[in-house]
Amino acid sequence: MSTPTIDAAPLSADPQRLQTLLDGFAELSEPGAGPGVTRLAYTPLERRAHEVFAREMRALGLTVWTDAAGNTIAERAGDTAGLPALGTGSHLDSVPNAGGFDGIAGVVAAMETARMYAERDTRHAHPIRFVAFAAEEGARFGQACTGSRIIAGLTEPEDLDAKRDAHGTTLAEAMRSVGFPPEQVAEARWRPEDWAAFLELHIEQGGVLESTGIPVGVVDLISGSTRLLLDITGRASHTGGTPMHLRADAMTAAAEIVLLIESIANDTRHRGTRATVGRMEALPGSITTIAGRVQLYVDVRDVDSDRQRFAAAEIVERAQAACTHRGVKFAARTLADASPVILPGWLRDTIARTCAGLGVDYRVLPSGASHDSQMVNHVVPTGMIFVPSRDGISHSPVEWTSTDELAVGTEVLAASLLALDRQFDRRDEKEDRA
Ligand code: GLV
Ligand code: MN
Ligand code: MN
Repeated sequence: MSTPTIDAAPLSADPQRLQTLLDGFAELSEPGAGPGVTRLAYTPLERRAHEVFAREMRALGLTVWTDAAGNTIAERAGDTAGLPALGTGSHLDSVPNAGGFDGIAGVVAAMETARMYAERDTRHAHPIRFVAFAAEEGARFGQACTGSRIIAGLTEPEDLDAKRDAHGTTLAEAMRSVGFPPEQVAEARWRPEDWAAFLELHIEQGGVLESTGIPVGVVDLISGSTRLLLDITGRASHTGGTPMHLRADAMTAAAEIVLLIESIANDTRHRGTRATVGRMEALPGSITTIAGRVQLYVDVRDVDSDRQRFAAAEIVERAQAACTHRGVKFAARTLADASPVILPGWLRDTIARTCAGLGVDYRVLPSGASHDSQMVNHVVPTGMIFVPSRDGISHSPVEWTSTDELAVGTEVLAASLLALDRQFDRRDEKEDRA
């Protein structure tokens, strides 16, 4: 049994290096897409970001490969042969007009961790894998966490044919166009026996840490989300020639449904549910034609799975009733549905003890956003570390976290992985003796 060397001095993350990495990724944005960063799932730009990650990690001497889902994995060998891996990472894609931190913060924290270990020649018994996941954002295809769902065995090739972006391109076609044949996704699946634990650092995307002045969050549970497409069909007609009482206006029905959704989420029976219509498409989309068809894209999130599904069902039922009342047709489809996830308490304890050991204040909090960790936790016990988001804003060009704050989170991440390495090493020894 190996006894890895443990450095006494804490590892120190370099804010300037983090900034350089963040700036480099932020440059990889769709030209002409407007403010902020636009680097959508399964696009050539997302692949370029993965190439940057792969190049930097190879330069640190790590073994790098890309799996059949487009996730990039860099491994730092451990001292003891045959042990399962520890892992960390996040995603490199973005929503349209994003900031440069959602997902990217966790990837650059992983890159800086690998660099700190390399510079210090840090020893660990288990291999440590640094992962950049593909296609975490649900913005393009409605379904979030595609890369991590695939490694967890939660997405089959048939599912990839069923999801389409706004231009009608299927997820399967998009994957193929950047070199990942969808029929091969099963090859990317992780085997639980190959992994010991996984940690993801992410920006909070809420205002709890900033408002309480606490630098680090330890996540206890991650909200689930149900995504609905509500399709309202009325009758397109002339805005001047059609009297008000003879209309079947899909737009006014949609407006009523948007407000209905807000009132359902605000109802005390759903306290804690967040329900949002973030996208609405009206056809034919002309100022002089009554809308004949409107599609609403609805995202229902909750940390309570019953309340999440109950709110989604109530939205569909009451939207149907509103359309019947207005004499327009209604159809609803579930685009994606993920349950809330409780992360393992023992990993939370390891991160919390690490914070205490480093003298970093922390608080335990839930995540309102979805994360790759939600999927990874199906195959590998997973923990999450949050760093503050300025004004709690995310999915916006003004999303921001200072590199000093990110450096603190990175140090907690790097030290937590080493704490897990020692924790498992002791457990392996016990098992050997048993
Ligand atoms: C991922 O960013 C999400 O939509 O929660
Ligand atoms: Mn994210
Ligand atoms: Mn996001």
